[in-house]
Amino acid sequence: MKDLIEQARQARENAHAPFSNFKVGAALLTENEKIITGCNIENASYGLTMCAERTAIFKAISEGETKFTRLAIVADTENLTPPCGACRQIIWEFCGDVEIILSNLSSKTETFQMSELLPKAFDAGFLES
Ligand code: THU
Repeated sequence: MKDLIEQARQARENAHAPFSNFKVGAALLTENEKIITGCNIENASYGLTMCAERTAIFKAISEGETKFTRLAIVADTENLTPPCGACRQIIWEFCGDVEIILSNLSSKTETFQMSELLPKAFDAGFLES
């Protein structure tokens, strides 16, 4: 878990956040113990910004990884930064009920299950019923 947080912290250094100056890093652990990282990437057309969590997940999917166990998210906030609503939906759909580890630069850490962060989630199961 320490390594996953450290990798998220390092990924945060690559954040492209010239508009908000709010840097976020994420690190996703696959079932076979591979770590895939992401950072937030902003755009002058603000709505095109990509969050760190989604960067990591889309990288992982595009590399053929489909099974995940944990996601660490690091930002420089005392009140630990949780994933935004859009990311919660994407995390749920691609990662399921994984462990979500929030941390900051002082190594304060909190852990949640994804089902706590997105109760009563909509997903592909509803399309089949
Ligand atoms: N951001 C993330 O990357 N992840 C989060 O969990 C919260 C928000 C980014 C998006 C934007 O670049 C900046 O943080 C401010 O919202």
